[in-house]
Amino acid sequence: MCGIIGYTGSQNAVPLIIEGLKKLEYRGYDSAGIAIFGKGSINVQKCKGRITALEQLISKTIVHYPLSIVNCSLGHTRWATHGEPSDVNSHPHVSGNNKIAIVHNGIIENYKELKEDLQAKGANFVSETDSEVIAQLAEYYHDGDILTTVTKLTSRLKGSYALGIMLCDRPDLLVAVKKDNPLIIGVSEHGNFIASDIPAVLKHTNKIYYLEDHEIALLYKDRVEFYGVDGAPIAKTLETVTWSVGDAEKGGEAHFMLKEIKEQPKILRDTINSLLSEGENKKTLDNFEITRYNKIVIVGCGSAYNAGVVAKYVFERLCRFPCIEVELASEFRYKDAVIDEKSLVILISQSGETADTIAAMREAKAKHADTFAIVNVIGSTLAKEAAYRIYTAAGPEIAVATTKAFSAQLIVLYMMAVRFSGREDLLPEIEAIPEKVAEILKQAEAIRELAQHCTRHKCIFFIGRNIDYAIALEGSLKLKEISYIHSEAYAGGELKHGTISLIEDGTLVVAIANCKTLHGKIMSNVEQVQSRGAKVILVGNCAESDIPLPDCYELFSPSLSAIALQLFSYYVALEKGLDIDKPRNLAKSVTVE
Ligand code: F6R
Repeated sequence: MCGIIGYTGSQNAVPLIIEGLKKLEYRGYDSAGIAIFGKGSINVQKCKGRITALEQLISKTIVHYPLSIVNCSLGHTRWATHGEPSDVNSHPHVSGNNKIAIVHNGIIENYKELKEDLQAKGANFVSETDSEVIAQLAEYYHDGDILTTVTKLTSRLKGSYALGIMLCDRPDLLVAVKKDNPLIIGVSEHGNFIASDIPAVLKHTNKIYYLEDHEIALLYKDRVEFYGVDGAPIAKTLETVTWSVGDAEKGGEAHFMLKEIKEQPKILRDTINSLLSEGENKKTLDNFEITRYNKIVIVGCGSAYNAGVVAKYVFERLCRFPCIEVELASEFRYKDAVIDEKSLVILISQSGETADTIAAMREAKAKHADTFAIVNVIGSTLAKEAAYRIYTAAGPEIAVATTKAFSAQLIVLYMMAVRFSGREDLLPEIEAIPEKVAEILKQAEAIRELAQHCTRHKCIFFIGRNIDYAIALEGSLKLKEISYIHSEAYAGGELKHGTISLIEDGTLVVAIANCKTLHGKIMSNVEQVQSRGAKVILVGNCAESDIPLPDCYELFSPSLSAIALQLFSYYVALEKGLDIDKPRNLAKSVTVE
């Protein structure tokens, strides 16, 4: 996610902002920028790429400003959501009169409507971002009174935001306001900070105010004031954090993987919203004409492939397409696939840079098939080259083992199936998933206890039937990649055709049971392995479950099983004391063959 840092105080702000931006790098970003006051207007320097590129840029410009006027500044690292990574789309964004600068973390869902409105009033936009409307709208409402400006501004914004604002007529002041995205205020002896996260300010202070939704903070050099949207002052408690910088980057969690697992209710909500409220994702989905195709091939690697396996069950059952295949990208690219201009190739990827998936897309294009990417990274190769794209709103994923991006892919695939089948009556079932995921997260400690007893196993089997088998594949992959315990997933009905010979006293089998129609079948598979000495952990919405899951529309239950299985793998690896965020031999983005 984007990173925000701002400072007003007695020190030279520029090095503090750069230092703060570097501390926010872990959040992932594709561009960076800084705003300072100078000579009656705002000076913004920003560029695509790393913070070192920004440093080079400002070494030629800002450095020459007298220190006395560069003690209030805003900085930003951008993770593209609207508009590809580019210099002009980077933050800060300034108003048309160059008197107001803003940095934004979040998504303004109604930005198109606001943009058109402002354009009709004469505003001139320069970027493709949703964020620029905030700067333009702030100029429109600014009448000299900061609180009314911010109140009017935020009353027009739909979506999520953490905002830092600088106004030329108040050169020592920073304004902060938020809704659904984090923003903290750091209070130091030499000045005050706003930041997306604590690591950005921890070198200077551990005294923190946590800004709540709709609270407005006015930061001066020597004090911070808080107000409600009604303009009434609010008293807040200054808290002291005891985290180290490393702890703080992970939001207090031991690993990025756990932090990302816990982010899932929010990112799933964001992904659903992006497909239901105005914007590129919704437009792509609503206008897509599936009846043009007589064959669908879903392609991906690793977890992205597993999301494709889930999708095959969902698409077949809901849409009744006669011909849907799921292919590993590394195989598809060399198999001389039988596809043509009546084929749709859906490519799933978090990074959008996986070499095999890109090659598969190019192969599909060479054969005149249509290509449709489901991808997390805006402006990535896959996103740019595919004929159609939908972005998952998972934000940057740092842990090598994917969790939230995988879950966001499932949501997109369900939404596609619902749309293509005309089964919009199922939308409430999808909209209910984030809450159910939040419920499962509450079981983390119980899952940890179960997992603690599983580390001695040399091999763990995952079984399920139908859609439960599809998610068993992902459970097994997650476990082996971070815990280094060998694991295999099987369709329950397949056991008798060979695998059951591996079951002996004490073998661990994780059985997934969400399919009501096949409950008897999976339970009889459970009995088969138990009678041969296996120990079984049952995950599902049935009464016998060791990890109970909320009830759910059967085809969407992988979204719930996934959370339990991610937590299970995480805690097994934790108990083994392994390097969970960076498992051996693996890379986050596999850009080579
Ligand atoms: C597993 C995992 C990998 C990726 C695979 C594809 O946890 O992260 O299996 O899913 O390497 O990567 P993307 O989605 O970036 O194409």
